[in-house]
Amino acid sequence: MSSPSAHAVDLVVFGGTGDLSMRKLIPALYHCDRDGRLAPESRIVAMSRGGLTDADFRGKVDAEVRGLVPVDDPELWDRFLGRLHHVSVDVGGADKSGWAALNALLGGFEQRDRVFYLASPPMTFGPFCRELEAAGLVTPRSRVVLEKPLGRDLHSAQLINDEVGAIFDERQIFRIDHYLGKETVQNLLVLRFANAFLEPIWNSLWIDHVQITVAETVGTPGRRGYYDQAGALRDMVQNHLLQLLCLTAMEPPARNDKEAIRDEKVKVLQALRPLDEASEAARFTVRGQYDGYLDEPSSTPPTAASKRVETFVAIRAEVKNWRWAGVPFYLRTGKRLPRRTSEIVVQFKDVPHSIFPGGSPNRLVLRLQPEEGIQLHIMAKEPGAGEVALKPVPLKLSFGETFTTRVPEAYERLLNDVLAGNPTLFMRRDEVEAAWRWIDPILAAWESSGDLPEPYAPGTAGPAGAHELLGRSGRAWHEEA
Ligand code: BG6
Repeated sequence: MSSPSAHAVDLVVFGGTGDLSMRKLIPALYHCDRDGRLAPESRIVAMSRGGLTDADFRGKVDAEVRGLVPVDDPELWDRFLGRLHHVSVDVGGADKSGWAALNALLGGFEQRDRVFYLASPPMTFGPFCRELEAAGLVTPRSRVVLEKPLGRDLHSAQLINDEVGAIFDERQIFRIDHYLGKETVQNLLVLRFANAFLEPIWNSLWIDHVQITVAETVGTPGRRGYYDQAGALRDMVQNHLLQLLCLTAMEPPARNDKEAIRDEKVKVLQALRPLDEASEAARFTVRGQYDGYLDEPSSTPPTAASKRVETFVAIRAEVKNWRWAGVPFYLRTGKRLPRRTSEIVVQFKDVPHSIFPGGSPNRLVLRLQPEEGIQLHIMAKEPGAGEVALKPVPLKLSFGETFTTRVPEAYERLLNDVLAGNPTLFMRRDEVEAAWRWIDPILAAWESSGDLPEPYAPGTAGPAGAHELLGRSGRAWHEEA
């Protein structure tokens, strides 16, 4: 983690009573406080249309968040509640009293760092920033945090970036992708660049292919309004999976600093082979929708568009550069799959000539969740007399067993970095736009094809097409035994 935030910060969360705020941000801030990373004067201001008083909001947090975090010291919890404020605001509305109330609260503290965290739909980012500026709330020490998804295609992302960029400098803009805050994701950089043995074999000479899977057991209950508009490609692939791909494929940066790392990631995105022919999208991408998606409980009824929404995606991607030419990167994500697993599997090539019967796993598995750790699957001799029999066995490093320190939640680490002003783990404008540039043709091909996503039964490993995607080159998805 970055060093503790020594100075006082006013953190304003727009969408502050919403699901993300209550489930992730407030608990993460409590952990920062508990670990002494929030200066005593720091304040947290939730903004919403809710019409709550400070006392109402503190009561809500007490009721909804207390059970999610370890409250071992009631005094500390009360001190944390005391940091919380609520301001009601109607973005874009005629009533500007909310902005005046925020000004009254923050006024006189211009020397403090100010962080505006926009945990709200992307179309509100521009209007919110404009209102902030009009209310005179943007100081030189302000930062703005933008939650994903940033837009729904390249064009809308550019518009949002322009709108926010008109008010804040790029160095003040923190675009969050919470996968970058996960411990194992950062460990991937350490594994690759703090150990010498991997680098010589981290290329197309030794690696057959890479698989990146983010599988979830949850569906989308209560989220239809958002999910119908997004689908798994925008919700997961454009950001989380492409970030994992970048960290796996990037060249060693010259320094561990914000620009050097982000420069290398952008180069990977720019080297992705475009799937801009409809025939390529049809051949190298697979969409699925779990049975029952249309019947999920939701405040919005299904529409004709709901049938077209993918809850599962698999893609065969390729990074066209010297290191990776010819190595497929298979990406896969889906809802209502049998297990919650996020992992990166690096499959090395078979031995050139085998003197033993049986294949070789030669596989490195980086497990992000659950049970974060690294496994190297090697071939070993099964004990016994007679014929030599081979058996794949894993060499396991479990972070939970090896390190006894508490593993911080992704949001905690990222909030800590925002408070400390460190943007390394946040996406730069060119990075987000390069990701959309690769995604857009896939979206266009799907839209023009008229095909519906392949159905799959909940609790199964996705549609048949996902298996064919690898099967036609004699490969298979790595499934935990
Ligand atoms: C979010 C997506 O960004 O990531 C959700 O919007 C998804 O649809 C979530 O469920 C997965 O995050 P995690 O950390 O639980 O793997």
